[in-house]
Amino acid sequence: MIELVTFSGMTLQLRELLESDIDQIMKLEKSAHSHPWRRSSFEDCLKGRQKCWLAEHKNTLVGYVVVTHGGGDAELLNLAVSPDVQRKGIGQLLLAQALELVQGKADMLFLEVRVSNHKAIALYSREGFFETGNRKNYYPTNNGYEDALLMAKQL
Ligand SMILES: CC(C)(COP(=O)(O)OP(=O)(O)OC[C@H]1O[C@@H](n2cnc3c(N)ncnc32)[C@H](O)[C@@H]1OP(=O)(O)O)[C@@H](O)C(=O)NCCC(=O)NCCS
Repeated sequence: MIELVTFSGMTLQLRELLESDIDQIMKLEKSAHSHPWRRSSFEDCLKGRQKCWLAEHKNTLVGYVVVTHGGGDAELLNLAVSPDVQRKGIGQLLLAQALELVQGKADMLFLEVRVSNHKAIALYSREGFFETGNRKNYYPTNNGYEDALLMAKQL
């Protein structure tokens, strides 16, 4: 367990996901994403190389990050912060934790993000990710598809 303080003065406890966290994680996942992950994707974090770390504030789940690595590369698979505590620096600390988890195991950390997700793109750009490409019609939307922006950061 790691204790950190956000720029806004919130004390967070960061720790690895346990099976007993998954009900709470699914609630946050559904509140933060238009197209949430399935429960089984979080269950996979308990088995293999895919790691999920979560952030708690006063024993309440406020966010999580999922990262994986293999073959010299790493990928950020999910990042979410509870809508009622966004813009307080929790996303920034979870992203820093993701970088820490794959440091020494890969040369680059890659991610994909919806082109319309300006909040996430701003966070990734500020933390040193650069754009590497674009996947056409990659994500479903409520009335069709939208492109994914591909970003990467040197580790
Ligand atoms: C994207 C997401 C994870 C960002 O989380 P967050 O906790 O709100 O992010 P942060 O608070 O760390 O950063 C956001 C704001 O805080 C400000 N901030 C962060 N660290 C700061 C610091 N040290 N000093 C001053 N301001 C800071 C940033 O400038 C930013 O402000 P802005 O929105 O005006 O640019 C969150 O919006 C979210 O969960 N979205 C839904 C799910 C999602 O889209 N996930 C990404 C999928 S790829």
